[in-house]
Amino acid sequence: MHILTTLVATLLCSSYNVRLAVAQQEEQASTEYTKDDEFKDAVMNVSNTYRKQHNATALAWNGSLAEGAAEWSERCVFEHSGGPTGENLSSGYRNASASIIAWGHERVDYDFKKGGFSKETGHFTQLVWKATTSFGCGRTECNGEGGKEAPGWFVVCNYYPPGNVIGAFTENVQGQVPEEEQPEGPRVSAGWCLWGGGEVGWKGSSEVVWVAVFVSCLGLWVM
Ligand SMILES: *[C@@H]1O[C@H](CO)[C@@H](O)[C@H](O)[C@H]1NC(C)=O
Ligand SMILES: *[C@@H]1O[C@H](CO)[C@@H](O)[C@H](O)[C@H]1NC(C)=O
Ligand SMILES: *[C@@H]1O[C@H](CO)[C@@H](O)[C@H](O)[C@H]1NC(C)=O
Ligand SMILES: *[C@@H]1O[C@H](CO)[C@@H](O)[C@H](O)[C@H]1NC(C)=O
Ligand SMILES: *[C@@H]1O[C@H](CO)[C@@H](O)[C@H](O)[C@H]1NC(C)=O
Repeated sequence: MHILTTLVATLLCSSYNVRLAVAQQEEQASTEYTKDDEFKDAVMNVSNTYRKQHNATALAWNGSLAEGAAEWSERCVFEHSGGPTGENLSSGYRNASASIIAWGHERVDYDFKKGGFSKETGHFTQLVWKATTSFGCGRTECNGEGGKEAPGWFVVCNYYPPGNVIGAFTENVQGQVPEEEQPEGPRVSAGWCLWGGGEVGWKGSSEVVWVAVFVSCLGLWVM
């Protein structure tokens, strides 16, 4: 009887431990949020992939905008800062890529012919706004509940020059263009080297592209 009890107890215990380990793993935050370089890579990758598809040139990373966005996110209040730059907010997504994809996905509801601002598509139109040239994002793990407290991870991106300018939508928010007509990737910069990978919306993943990326980065190193 004793042996049976011990056995059952041991089994229960080990299965509990396994479940605990699984739960802990699930709860562990994505490294896209916890690591600065991965966060930047992810938001640049996704943002510039959408821009390329909509015939807009890649955004450069703007350090001062990123700093402001990070500071704003630390308040954990889901509201706009009211600053002079464009600003998008998202909260509660599992990783940084998903946060930005949520904005890009709004394109399914956008009327490219008619243009104009709507709350349902405002993130998307800012994301691919042609006249915007730089952006910076920050994030904070808030885990807020209800009201204006941001749930989960709170992501803030600021854009300069700001988009969503009334009266300028049709020229700045372009429809999707075929791959061969999409503009070049971001200009050579440290950010691009980090971001580089050749896969991002480039045609195929040919070695030629890889070589091009490599050489450009090398050029920067030499400089
Ligand atoms: C960039 O994003 C694309 C899809 O949006 C993904 O397939 C690719 O793996 C990403 N690359 C990097 C380096 O994160
Ligand atoms: C894409 O942008 C370029 C440069 O702004 C422009 O010349 C071209 O007409 C645009 N293509 C489409 C399909 O909108
Ligand atoms: C996204 O950013 C643009 C530009 O600042 C803004 O007009 C729009 O209201 C933002 N959308 C939301 C829902 O935050
Ligand atoms: C990010 O989250 C999405 C949605 O939960 C998931 O499909 C995707 O695989 C995740 N990507 C990474 C890089 O963890
Ligand atoms: C970065 O953003 C600020 C606005 O906050 C702007 O004045 C500055 O010109 C931007 N820098 C670049 C490199 O775009």
